[in-house]
Amino acid sequence: MEQEADAELPHTRGELLQASIDLTHHTLSYVKSMALRCAVQLGIADAIRRAGGDVSLDGLAAALSLAPSKLPYLRRVMRALTASGVFAQAGGGGYRLTPVSTLLLSDGGGGGCRSLQQLVRIQLSPFCVSPVTNLAEWFSRDEETPFAMTFGTGHWDFCVRDPGFSAFFNGAMACDSRFVMDAVIHEVGGAFDGVTSMVDVAGGTGGAAKAVAAAFPQIKCTVLDLPHVIHGVPPADGRVEFVAGDMMDFIPQADALLLKSVLHDWSDEDCVRILKRCKEAICRGEQGGKLIIIDLVVGSSSRATTCHETQLLFDLFISTLTQGRERDEKEWCKLFKEVGFRDYKVTSVLDIRSVIEVFP
Ligand SMILES: C[S@@+](CC[C@H](N)C(=O)[O-])C[C@H]1O[C@@H](n2cnc3c(N)ncnc32)[C@H](O)[C@@H]1O
Repeated sequence: MEQEADAELPHTRGELLQASIDLTHHTLSYVKSMALRCAVQLGIADAIRRAGGDVSLDGLAAALSLAPSKLPYLRRVMRALTASGVFAQAGGGGYRLTPVSTLLLSDGGGGGCRSLQQLVRIQLSPFCVSPVTNLAEWFSRDEETPFAMTFGTGHWDFCVRDPGFSAFFNGAMACDSRFVMDAVIHEVGGAFDGVTSMVDVAGGTGGAAKAVAAAFPQIKCTVLDLPHVIHGVPPADGRVEFVAGDMMDFIPQADALLLKSVLHDWSDEDCVRILKRCKEAICRGEQGGKLIIIDLVVGSSSRATTCHETQLLFDLFISTLTQGRERDEKEWCKLFKEVGFRDYKVTSVLDIRSVIEVFP
């Protein structure tokens, strides 16, 4: 009797009870994000490693120099993040790193390319969180994005106005590039076969280009980005050249053009403009030249649920920062056709992003 649906409501009491648990879980999801932010800001992952990799609550509090009165609160942060799989608890009760918290180490556990700490820091900072909290209000406003509504200007102009934010952002992107390019080079390295020159278009401080130059020394790598980004780059090791410019106007010529985490920041109209400039810049050597796009292809994941939902959350997140979007394969294909590219090939990396090779 209890399980029967109410005549007015199409769900049973049992279903609604489960729904209330799901709803509370969704509602409090932000607490998990903020506990993660707390762990990053306190440097908990590094402290666990410094303490030998298996540390009691007292030991952790001492390693973090916390006042004894904060011990019960640290226990609650650790308990929530252990339940979420960010940390683990050994049989003796000591806290340990998991693969997730290993990515929060400042140096990624010895290989700098495996740290995502700076990326997590910016994604959980007020710069990224505040626009999301303003999403509903933005629907009845005229600003281009929730970011512009929150900070009075668009994301790229804000980078020009605020050198501190620009450095924070560029550092986070370089961190992402080191991580992603390691996977791209190992899993889709064939995309660089026959390439002798490459321009990393809107390549930031050159994280991706440096990884390509190190893995394929025969490729002459150039990074194109806006003047305020290029002027802040420390002198290069000579392997990568930096050029200041606007990709909407001009892109230096090369066999291959790399666009990593760029097109998802732009509307379809702007993407068409960027892709046209790219097509003009591709030198058609013996191999014919190509574009190498690294971005999400929504729906590409083989591990359906978590990855798909992550892709959709990323799309919503991007919509609060820029006028861009994450695209499915049909939407990518439409852009390539509009610009007159002949063919393309998608290869999934890290199960969530893809390498799209596009041929003129
Ligand atoms: C999301 S970041 C990606 C950086 C880099 N590709 C990476 O993945 O690490 C986008 C980059 O686009 C650059 N950018 C924005 N507008 C640009 C323009 N009109 N011309 C050249 N670069 C631009 C920004 O300065 C920033 O470095």
